[in-house]
Amino acid sequence: MRLSRYFLPVLKETPSEAQIVSHRLMLRAGMIKQASAGIYSWLPLGFKVLRKLENIVHEEQIRAGHIPMLMPTLQSADLWRESGRFDDYGEEMLRIKDRQGRDMLYGPTNEELITDIFRAHVGSYKDLPLTLYHIQWKFRDEIRPRFGVMRGREFLMKDGYNFDVSKEAALHSYNRHLVSYLRTYERMGLQAIPMRADSGPIGGDDTHEFLVLAETGESEVYYDSEITDLRFGEREVDYDSVAECQAVLEEFTSRYARTDETHDEALFNQIPEERRRVARGIEVGQIFYFGTKYSEPLGATVQTRDGASVPVHMGSHGIGVSRLVGAIIEASHDERGIIWPEGVTPFHVGLVNLKQGDAEADAACEAIYGSVLALGLDPLYDDRDERAGGKFATMDLVGLPWRITVGPRGLKNGVVELTSRRTGESEELPPEQAVEKLAQIYAGHRVPMAI
Ligand SMILES: Nc1ncnc2c1ncn2[C@@H]1O[C@H](COP(=O)(O)OP(=O)(O)OP(=O)(O)O)[C@@H](O)[C@H]1O
Ligand SMILES: [Mg+2]
Repeated sequence: MRLSRYFLPVLKETPSEAQIVSHRLMLRAGMIKQASAGIYSWLPLGFKVLRKLENIVHEEQIRAGHIPMLMPTLQSADLWRESGRFDDYGEEMLRIKDRQGRDMLYGPTNEELITDIFRAHVGSYKDLPLTLYHIQWKFRDEIRPRFGVMRGREFLMKDGYNFDVSKEAALHSYNRHLVSYLRTYERMGLQAIPMRADSGPIGGDDTHEFLVLAETGESEVYYDSEITDLRFGEREVDYDSVAECQAVLEEFTSRYARTDETHDEALFNQIPEERRRVARGIEVGQIFYFGTKYSEPLGATVQTRDGASVPVHMGSHGIGVSRLVGAIIEASHDERGIIWPEGVTPFHVGLVNLKQGDAEADAACEAIYGSVLALGLDPLYDDRDERAGGKFATMDLVGLPWRITVGPRGLKNGVVELTSRRTGESEELPPEQAVEKLAQIYAGHRVPMAI
């Protein structure tokens, strides 16, 4: 993409309505524009990041054996009456009447709809285990939408639902989700810590929330500092292996880590004092096992091997895809702007031409632009006729992890500059070597192509 042809409406002034850094930076970098309270348009740069996160989520879900589909945003109230949640859900549910006067709602979550699909088509243990998921917009009429996309009213969520013949099998599905979530967040450059949580209106006994530590997080969290040393890393886990998934669950959940809702002071105080941490965190996902809470009222049953009919055991598993865009920025920025992790960056490299219109500089930029594209990477070329200072400020604000700077002076010596956004360190290299280095950097971050 050439910046002269792109739509990147960066703001010079810091928007006064934004209270936290991710919201400020998303507005300033031209990623989003508020449409109404808690509802945002995703401008091209923001949309690119959102799509990258979606792609990572899809890849990791499919790797775990979960099956993508798509359910609608608008749902009939009838199903929610069957589960009893139409009245229970409260003010957060946006209720709508269609022209026939039928009660509809904009889905805040999809347990009822997926259970209805299941009961219509599945009746035997032979079709299990089954996990279906989708990435779809949700609406919750939050009383205080704030912090930009972090607490919106309309937001993008990945929600998945497992169906199993027994509690034991469903707990394996739960563990499989935990493993796949650990991988997912790490690919996004985040450490998200599974913490024992409260189940809220979804219901159920077993549940963990995934929290990213950040001062601006809305949840208070208590944990054993040893937990932050854990990394999922490059390990391969067999998602069909009950023992392997259980081992990961134990490794990542055996130390104390709880949100304020489930915090237990006496247990916490058993940890050596120097390891006790009280901090704030952003909830970026949650997994639940809730057994037959929905299958019983909705009559979703399966035949077991011995011919008995039993309600299917279920769980649901959410990732806050749009919230994650803000969470990543909260975790990775400095005073000049965003610093995207390589795995989610909207463009892989910024190309800055210090002297637009200079024949040699223009030709060198074109050549680099072409070679970067040929690698399958996505460059953002600042080809505007602007001062160098302005170009650098824009690149720093939008936060691409790498920048190649091209100017007549360097070209005289046959070099361009490759700069890391994170460390600020620069290296002078011949153009081909700079491109080669980018290829190496991104080889370890096979980023799914965005639009
Ligand atoms: N209003 C919102 N705006 C953006 N993302 C949200 C919002 N509500 C929930 N999410 C995201 O969707 C994920 C799954 O939804 P879940 O039902 O667990 O939310 P929740 O526990 O009600 O969230 P919260 O406690 O933050 O209100 C959450 O972990 C969070 O990342
Ligand atoms: Mg939650």
